[in-house]
Amino acid sequence: MIEPSTTFGALKEYCKAENLNVIQVPVGQNFEMNIAAMKKQAMAQTGSVLINICDPNNPTGNIVDFTTMFDWINNAPETHLFLLDEAYFDYAQANPRYKSGLDLINQGKDNVVISRTFSKVHGMAGMRLGYGIATVNTANKIKPFAAGFNLSAAGIAAASAALDDKSFYKKSIEYNQLSRKILVATLNELELESVPSDTNFVLHIIGTPLADYAKHM
Ligand SMILES: Cc1ncc(COP(=O)(O)O)c(C=O)c1O
Repeated sequence: MIEPSTTFGALKEYCKAENLNVIQVPVGQNFEMNIAAMKKQAMAQTGSVLINICDPNNPTGNIVDFTTMFDWINNAPETHLFLLDEAYFDYAQANPRYKSGLDLINQGKDNVVISRTFSKVHGMAGMRLGYGIATVNTANKIKPFAAGFNLSAAGIAAASAALDDKSFYKKSIEYNQLSRKILVATLNELELESVPSDTNFVLHIIGTPLADYAKHM
C-alpha cells in the first residue's frame, strides 16, 4: 500500500494487521501530496498496489492536484487500485480546483473505489455509517470481504433522513466556511502559519508548547 506521509492513519493500521508492505511518500514543502513521487514508487513494485489518496487530505486539509491524479488513474497498470478517501469532499466542492473521483467511476473505471462518511458534514460520527462507490465489477469483487452484520437500522434511517435534509447540509457547510474564515483570520493575526484548508480543520504552527496553546485557544 502506498500513501502520503502524512495522512489519515486507519488504512495503514489495517495493512499492518494483514502484514502488508506500506510505503509512505513524504508530502512536499507546502504539505501538498506528491502524486508524481507516489506514482514512481507504485511503478517500482512488482505485485498489486493499493494507493491511498485522501482528498482533501487529513491532517493537512488541502486538496490534491486532480489533473496529475486523474492522469495516473487513467493510465495506470491493472495492478494499481486507487482508494480515494473523500471523507471531506463536501467542504471542497466550492473550490474550482477540486474534483471528486466520481467522474472516473461514472466513466467505468474499475480501478477506483471512493469512500465517504456521514461523520463530517452530516455530523453523525456516533452512528458509524459511511459508504463506498465503485463500478459494479469492482463492487462485486469487494463484496465477499464485507462483514455480514455491518450497519444498524437506526443508522440507515438516520442517513436516509440526512440525505433529504438539504437545509442542514447547506447550513453545515456555510457555518464551516464562516468558522474557518474566523480561525484563519485569527491565525494570521497571531502570525501562526497555516496550510490552506478545504476541510473543517486547519493545520497550523502552534508557536508555543501545546499546553499553553490549548489554554489560550
Ligand atoms: C480522512 C478520513 N477518513 C475516514 C474517517 C473515518 O470516518 P468514520 O467516522 O466514517 O469512520 C475520518 C475520520 O476522522 C477521516 O478523517
